[in-house]
Amino acid sequence: MIDADIVLCTLTDDLSRKTLEAARGGRTRLLANFGVGFNHIDLAAAREAGIAVSNTPGVLTEDTADLTMLLILAAARRAGEGERELRAGQWTGWRPTHLLGTRVTGKVLGIVGFGRIGQAVATRAHHGFGLRVLYHSRRVAAPEVEQRTGAANSETLENLLRESDFVSLHCPSTPETHHLMNGARFRAMQRHAFLVNTTRGDVVDEAALIEALDAGVIAGAALDVYDKEPLVRPGLVDRDDVVLLPHLGSATMESRVAMGRRAIANIDAFVAGLVLPDRIA
Ligand code: DGY
Repeated sequence: MIDADIVLCTLTDDLSRKTLEAARGGRTRLLANFGVGFNHIDLAAAREAGIAVSNTPGVLTEDTADLTMLLILAAARRAGEGERELRAGQWTGWRPTHLLGTRVTGKVLGIVGFGRIGQAVATRAHHGFGLRVLYHSRRVAAPEVEQRTGAANSETLENLLRESDFVSLHCPSTPETHHLMNGARFRAMQRHAFLVNTTRGDVVDEAALIEALDAGVIAGAALDVYDKEPLVRPGLVDRDDVVLLPHLGSATMESRVAMGRRAIANIDAFVAGLVLPDRIA
Protein backbone atom coordinates (compact mmCIF):
# COMPACT_ATOMS: atom_id res chain seq x y z
CA MET A 1 0.00 0.00 0.00
CA ILE A 2 1.33 3.46 -0.84
CA ASP A 3 0.00 6.46 1.02
CA ALA A 4 2.18 9.55 0.68
CA ASP A 5 2.18 12.43 -1.80
CA ILE A 6 5.67 11.48 -2.94
CA VAL A 7 7.06 7.98 -2.59
CA LEU A 8 10.79 7.31 -2.82
CA CYS A 9 10.89 3.68 -3.90
CA THR A 10 13.37 0.96 -4.83
CA LEU A 11 13.30 -2.26 -6.82
CA THR A 12 12.26 -4.19 -3.71
CA ASP A 13 8.92 -2.36 -3.45
CA ASP A 14 5.72 -3.88 -4.76
CA LEU A 15 4.50 -1.40 -7.35
CA SER A 16 2.43 -3.87 -9.33
CA ARG A 17 -0.86 -3.04 -11.03
CA LYS A 18 -2.73 -4.28 -7.96
CA THR A 19 -0.89 -1.88 -5.64
CA LEU A 20 -1.21 1.04 -8.03
CA GLU A 21 -4.89 0.39 -8.63
CA ALA A 22 -5.40 0.45 -4.87
CA ALA A 23 -3.63 3.83 -4.83
CA ARG A 24 -5.98 5.27 -7.44
CA GLY A 25 -7.87 8.29 -6.12
CA GLY A 26 -5.41 8.48 -3.20
CA ARG A 27 -2.86 11.14 -2.42
CA THR A 28 0.19 9.71 -4.22
CA ARG A 29 1.35 11.84 -7.14
CA LEU A 30 4.99 10.82 -7.66
CA LEU A 31 7.00 7.60 -7.46
CA ALA A 32 10.67 8.64 -7.41
CA ASN A 33 12.52 5.39 -8.04
CA PHE A 34 15.99 5.09 -6.48
CA GLY A 35 17.47 3.13 -9.37
CA VAL A 36 17.50 3.05 -13.15
CA GLY A 37 15.64 -0.25 -13.71
CA PHE A 38 11.89 0.00 -13.36
CA ASN A 39 10.52 -3.44 -14.20
CA HIS A 40 9.04 -3.59 -10.67
CA ILE A 41 6.74 -0.64 -11.49
CA ASP A 42 3.65 -1.09 -13.65
CA LEU A 43 4.03 2.14 -15.63
CA ALA A 44 0.66 1.82 -17.38
CA ALA A 45 -1.11 1.39 -14.04
CA ALA A 46 0.81 4.39 -12.64
CA ARG A 47 -0.32 6.52 -15.60
CA GLU A 48 -3.91 5.39 -15.15
CA ALA A 49 -3.70 6.32 -11.47
CA GLY A 50 -2.33 9.75 -12.38
CA ILE A 51 1.00 9.02 -10.69
CA ALA A 52 4.20 10.30 -12.29
CA VAL A 53 7.29 8.06 -12.17
CA SER A 54 10.99 8.98 -12.36
CA ASN A 55 14.23 6.96 -12.23
CA THR A 56 17.98 7.63 -11.95
CA PRO A 57 19.66 6.96 -15.31
CA GLY A 58 23.29 7.60 -16.16
CA VAL A 59 24.80 7.79 -12.68
CA LEU A 60 25.47 4.10 -12.13
CA THR A 61 26.71 3.21 -15.60
CA GLU A 62 30.44 3.10 -14.86
CA ASP A 63 30.12 1.10 -11.64
CA THR A 64 27.79 -1.46 -13.19
CA ALA A 65 30.19 -1.83 -16.13
CA ASP A 66 33.10 -2.28 -13.70
CA LEU A 67 31.17 -5.00 -11.88
CA THR A 68 30.46 -6.73 -15.18
CA MET A 69 34.20 -6.90 -15.88
CA LEU A 70 34.72 -8.23 -12.37
CA LEU A 71 32.21 -11.02 -13.06
CA ILE A 72 33.73 -11.89 -16.44
CA LEU A 73 37.17 -12.14 -14.84
CA ALA A 74 35.96 -13.95 -11.73
CA ALA A 75 34.13 -16.60 -13.78
CA ALA A 76 36.96 -17.11 -16.24
CA ARG A 77 39.70 -17.18 -13.59
CA ARG A 78 37.75 -19.13 -10.96
CA ALA A 79 38.28 -16.42 -8.35
CA GLY A 80 35.38 -17.49 -6.12
CA GLU A 81 36.49 -21.11 -6.10
CA GLY A 82 40.03 -20.09 -5.23
CA GLU A 83 38.94 -17.84 -2.40
CA ARG A 84 36.61 -20.48 -0.96
CA GLU A 85 39.38 -23.07 -1.09
CA LEU A 86 41.88 -20.81 0.63
CA ARG A 87 39.48 -19.67 3.35
CA ALA A 88 38.53 -23.29 4.02
CA GLY A 89 42.20 -24.03 4.71
CA GLN A 90 42.34 -26.41 1.75
CA TRP A 91 45.05 -24.72 -0.30
CA THR A 92 48.04 -27.03 -0.45
CA GLY A 93 50.32 -24.69 -2.40
CA TRP A 94 51.19 -23.70 -5.98
CA ARG A 95 51.03 -26.47 -8.55
CA PRO A 96 51.03 -26.34 -12.36
CA THR A 97 47.46 -27.50 -12.86
CA HIS A 98 45.82 -25.87 -9.86
CA LEU A 99 42.46 -24.16 -10.63
CA LEU A 100 43.20 -23.61 -14.29
CA GLY A 101 40.85 -21.08 -15.80
CA THR A 102 40.23 -19.46 -19.15
CA ARG A 103 42.13 -16.50 -20.62
CA VAL A 104 40.02 -13.36 -21.02
CA THR A 105 42.36 -11.15 -23.03
CA GLY A 106 41.79 -11.37 -26.77
CA LYS A 107 38.57 -13.40 -26.59
CA VAL A 108 35.12 -12.49 -27.96
CA LEU A 109 32.54 -10.73 -25.80
CA GLY A 110 28.91 -10.62 -26.92
CA ILE A 111 26.87 -7.81 -25.41
CA VAL A 112 23.09 -8.16 -25.48
CA GLY A 113 21.51 -4.70 -25.19
CA PHE A 114 23.68 -1.76 -26.14
CA GLY A 115 22.52 1.16 -24.01
CA ARG A 116 24.73 3.15 -21.66
CA ILE A 117 25.89 0.18 -19.59
CA GLY A 118 26.41 -2.16 -22.55
CA GLN A 119 28.53 0.51 -24.23
CA ALA A 120 30.56 1.14 -21.07
CA VAL A 121 31.27 -2.60 -20.81
CA ALA A 122 32.30 -2.72 -24.48
CA THR A 123 34.73 0.18 -23.98
CA ARG A 124 36.39 -1.52 -21.01
CA ALA A 125 36.50 -4.93 -22.65
CA HIS A 126 37.81 -3.75 -25.99
CA HIS A 127 40.25 -1.04 -24.95
CA GLY A 128 41.25 -2.61 -21.62
CA PHE A 129 41.38 -6.31 -22.39
CA GLY A 130 41.68 -6.44 -26.17
CA LEU A 131 38.44 -8.37 -26.50
CA ARG A 132 36.64 -8.43 -29.81
CA VAL A 133 33.22 -7.10 -28.95
CA LEU A 134 29.94 -7.90 -30.68
CA TYR A 135 26.64 -6.39 -29.67
CA HIS A 136 23.04 -7.14 -30.43
CA SER A 137 20.41 -4.54 -29.76
CA ARG A 138 17.00 -3.38 -30.93
CA ARG A 139 18.73 -0.46 -32.64
CA VAL A 140 22.04 -0.43 -34.47
CA ALA A 141 24.37 2.07 -32.77
CA ALA A 142 25.68 5.13 -34.58
CA PRO A 143 29.05 4.62 -36.33
CA GLU A 144 30.79 6.93 -33.84
CA VAL A 145 29.48 4.84 -30.92
CA GLU A 146 30.73 1.65 -32.58
CA GLN A 147 34.09 3.30 -33.13
CA ARG A 148 34.37 4.66 -29.57
CA THR A 149 33.43 1.34 -27.97
CA GLY A 150 35.16 -0.93 -30.46
CA ALA A 151 31.97 -2.98 -30.81
CA ALA A 152 30.48 -4.43 -34.00
CA ASN A 153 26.81 -5.10 -34.55
CA SER A 154 25.61 -8.68 -34.76
CA GLU A 155 22.39 -8.69 -36.71
CA THR A 156 21.00 -11.69 -34.91
CA LEU A 157 21.22 -12.73 -31.29
CA GLU A 158 21.89 -16.30 -32.38
CA ASN A 159 24.96 -15.25 -34.33
CA LEU A 160 26.30 -13.35 -31.33
CA LEU A 161 25.71 -16.39 -29.09
CA ARG A 162 27.48 -18.69 -31.55
CA GLU A 163 30.57 -16.47 -31.80
CA SER A 164 31.08 -15.30 -28.22
CA ASP A 165 33.32 -16.68 -25.49
CA PHE A 166 31.50 -14.48 -22.97
CA VAL A 167 27.89 -13.30 -23.28
CA SER A 168 26.91 -10.35 -21.10
CA LEU A 169 23.30 -9.22 -20.70
CA HIS A 170 22.50 -5.49 -20.62
CA CYS A 171 19.00 -5.28 -22.07
CA PRO A 172 16.18 -4.08 -19.82
CA SER A 173 13.64 -6.48 -18.38
CA THR A 174 10.51 -6.21 -20.52
CA PRO A 175 7.86 -8.73 -21.62
CA GLU A 176 9.97 -9.23 -24.78
CA THR A 177 13.19 -10.01 -22.88
CA HIS A 178 11.60 -12.24 -20.22
CA HIS A 179 13.57 -15.53 -20.30
CA LEU A 180 15.45 -14.30 -23.36
CA MET A 181 18.18 -16.72 -22.38
CA ASN A 182 16.34 -20.04 -22.57
CA GLY A 183 17.38 -23.61 -23.34
CA ALA A 184 17.64 -23.06 -27.10
CA ARG A 185 19.74 -19.92 -26.64
CA PHE A 186 22.12 -21.69 -24.26
CA ARG A 187 22.49 -24.43 -26.85
CA ALA A 188 23.42 -21.76 -29.40
CA MET A 189 26.38 -20.75 -27.20
CA GLN A 190 29.77 -22.41 -27.33
CA ARG A 191 30.51 -25.16 -24.80
CA HIS A 192 33.42 -23.20 -23.35
CA ALA A 193 31.43 -19.94 -23.09
CA PHE A 194 30.24 -18.09 -19.99
CA LEU A 195 27.02 -16.16 -19.37
CA VAL A 196 27.17 -12.93 -17.32
CA ASN A 197 24.05 -11.17 -16.05
CA THR A 198 24.05 -7.76 -14.35
CA THR A 199 20.71 -6.51 -15.70
CA ARG A 200 17.62 -8.25 -14.29
CA GLY A 201 17.18 -11.85 -13.20
CA ASP A 202 14.12 -12.63 -15.27
CA VAL A 203 16.03 -12.13 -18.53
CA VAL A 204 17.49 -15.57 -17.80
CA ASP A 205 15.44 -18.75 -17.43
CA GLU A 206 17.31 -19.97 -14.35
CA ALA A 207 16.00 -23.54 -14.61
CA ALA A 208 17.28 -23.70 -18.20
CA LEU A 209 20.61 -22.24 -17.08
CA ILE A 210 21.03 -24.97 -14.48
CA GLU A 211 20.16 -27.63 -17.06
CA ALA A 212 22.67 -26.14 -19.49
CA LEU A 213 25.40 -26.14 -16.83
CA ASP A 214 24.57 -29.69 -15.76
CA ALA A 215 24.71 -30.91 -19.36
CA GLY A 216 27.96 -29.04 -20.12
CA VAL A 217 26.20 -26.95 -22.76
CA ILE A 218 28.07 -23.87 -21.46
CA ALA A 219 31.10 -23.62 -19.17
CA GLY A 220 29.79 -21.33 -16.46
CA ALA A 221 27.93 -18.22 -15.44
CA ALA A 222 28.37 -15.14 -13.30
CA LEU A 223 25.24 -13.54 -11.91
CA ASP A 224 24.52 -10.37 -9.96
CA VAL A 225 20.74 -10.53 -10.34
CA TYR A 226 18.09 -13.21 -9.85
CA ASP A 227 14.54 -13.88 -10.88
CA LYS A 228 13.05 -13.84 -7.37
CA GLU A 229 15.48 -11.73 -5.37
CA PRO A 230 16.62 -12.15 -2.68
CA LEU A 231 15.92 -15.84 -3.25
CA VAL A 232 18.58 -17.63 -5.23
CA ARG A 233 17.54 -20.87 -6.86
CA PRO A 234 19.04 -23.76 -4.84
CA GLY A 235 20.49 -25.40 -7.94
CA LEU A 236 22.73 -22.36 -8.38
CA VAL A 237 24.04 -21.88 -4.87
CA ASP A 238 25.91 -25.14 -4.45
CA ARG A 239 27.86 -25.23 -7.68
CA ASP A 240 31.39 -24.05 -8.41
CA ASP A 241 30.87 -23.13 -12.05
CA VAL A 242 28.82 -20.04 -11.20
CA VAL A 243 29.89 -16.81 -9.54
CA LEU A 244 27.07 -15.30 -7.47
CA LEU A 245 26.90 -11.73 -6.17
CA PRO A 246 24.00 -10.12 -4.27
CA HIS A 247 22.90 -7.40 -6.75
CA LEU A 248 25.92 -5.15 -6.28
CA GLY A 249 26.04 -3.46 -9.71
CA SER A 250 25.56 0.08 -8.41
CA ALA A 251 26.85 -0.58 -4.90
CA THR A 252 29.53 2.07 -4.60
CA MET A 253 29.33 5.10 -2.38
CA GLU A 254 29.67 7.28 -5.48
CA SER A 255 26.79 5.68 -7.39
CA ARG A 256 24.43 5.47 -4.45
CA VAL A 257 24.98 9.13 -3.49
CA ALA A 258 24.47 10.17 -7.12
CA MET A 259 21.32 8.05 -7.34
CA GLY A 260 19.96 9.76 -4.22
CA ARG A 261 20.76 13.20 -5.64
CA ARG A 262 19.09 12.30 -8.90
CA ALA A 263 15.96 11.08 -7.13
CA ILE A 264 15.89 14.31 -5.09
CA ALA A 265 16.29 16.41 -8.25
CA ASN A 266 13.15 14.76 -9.61
CA ILE A 267 11.28 15.33 -6.36
CA ASP A 268 12.39 18.99 -6.26
CA ALA A 269 11.24 19.50 -9.85
CA PHE A 270 7.92 17.87 -9.06
CA VAL A 271 7.35 20.05 -6.00
CA ALA A 272 8.25 23.16 -8.02
CA GLY A 273 5.84 22.15 -10.77
CA LEU A 274 8.66 21.76 -13.30
CA VAL A 275 9.27 19.07 -15.91
CA LEU A 276 10.85 16.02 -14.24
CA PRO A 277 14.39 15.47 -15.52
CA ASP A 278 14.00 11.68 -15.56
CA ARG A 279 10.30 11.11 -16.06
CA ILE A 280 9.46 7.60 -17.29
CA ALA A 281 5.67 7.78 -16.81
C1 DGY B 1 19.10 -0.23 -10.79
O1 DGY B 1 19.37 0.96 -10.61
O2 DGY B 1 18.16 -0.59 -11.46
C2 DGY B 1 19.98 -1.23 -10.14
O3 DGY B 1 19.72 -2.52 -10.52
C3 DGY B 1 19.90 -1.10 -8.64
O4 DGY B 1 21.04 -0.50 -8.27
